[in-house]
Amino acid sequence: MGDLTDVKKLLGTQAVDRFVTEGMRLGLGTGSTAIWAARRLAERMTAGTLRGIHAVTTSLQTELEARSLGIPLTTLNDARLSGGLDLVIDGADEVDPERNLIKGGGGALLREKIIAYASRRLIIIVDHTKLSQRLCERFAIPVEIVVDALATVSARIAEMGGEATLRMALRKAGPVVTDLGNLLLDVSFREAFDARRMEDELKLIPGVLENGLFTKKKPELLIGNADGSMEYRAL
Ligand code: 5RP
Repeated sequence: MGDLTDVKKLLGTQAVDRFVTEGMRLGLGTGSTAIWAARRLAERMTAGTLRGIHAVTTSLQTELEARSLGIPLTTLNDARLSGGLDLVIDGADEVDPERNLIKGGGGALLREKIIAYASRRLIIIVDHTKLSQRLCERFAIPVEIVVDALATVSARIAEMGGEATLRMALRKAGPVVTDLGNLLLDVSFREAFDARRMEDELKLIPGVLENGLFTKKKPELLIGNADGSMEYRAL
C-alpha cells in the first residue's frame, strides 16, 4: 500500500462490496474514508450491479459528492424509508476496544448520529491509526451546541472536569458553523471516564444538540492496515 489514502479507498470499496445489497435503505457517512464508499456505490450503480438503493447522506460534503456522481438521494423523512435504514457506512476518529466511538472530526456528528442510531446495521470503516485503548486518548469529543449556549455549556463542561475549545474555521474568520447552523466545541478530559455515561451527561446540558460519543449502537468494524490487510470485528 502507498499511503493511508489507498487504505481508505480499499475500506470504502470493500464495505460496499461486502455489505450493500439491492434495494437497501443506505446511509452514506462523511469524511476522507467514508467518501470512498459513496464513490464505489456510484460505480456499482452506474454499472447496474446495485439497483433500487435509497441513499441518505450525513453531510453537505457527502451530498455534493454523491450528487456529482449521479447517486439519487433522499432524506430520512421520505415515507418510503419508514424512519429507518438498513445499513450505514461511516468513518470514525477514535475507536476503543469496546467499539465505542468518537465521531465528528468533520463536524457532521448530529446528522451522523441520527442516521447511525436509526439504522439496523452500522458499518464503521477505519484505518489502524484510529484504534486506541480509551476514548479521548488522542481525539477530543466534538459537541454541537446552539450559539446562545456557548458560555453556559463551556462552564458546565469545566465543572465536569473537561476543557472545551471552540472549533475555529480555516480560510473563514471566526468559528466553524456546522451544516445545520450551529457551533462546535472540542472537549477533552484528562481523566478516564465511562463513555456510555458521558454520552448521556453531555447530551443533558441545555443547549447541547449532540455529542460525538457513539456508545449506544455497537458498530461492525472494518479495520484497514497499512499492508492492505483488513480485519472485520463485530464481537
Ligand atoms: C465526520 C466524521 C468522520 O467520519 C470522521 O471524522 C473520520 O473522518 P476521516 O475518515 O476523514 O478520518 O465523524 O464528522
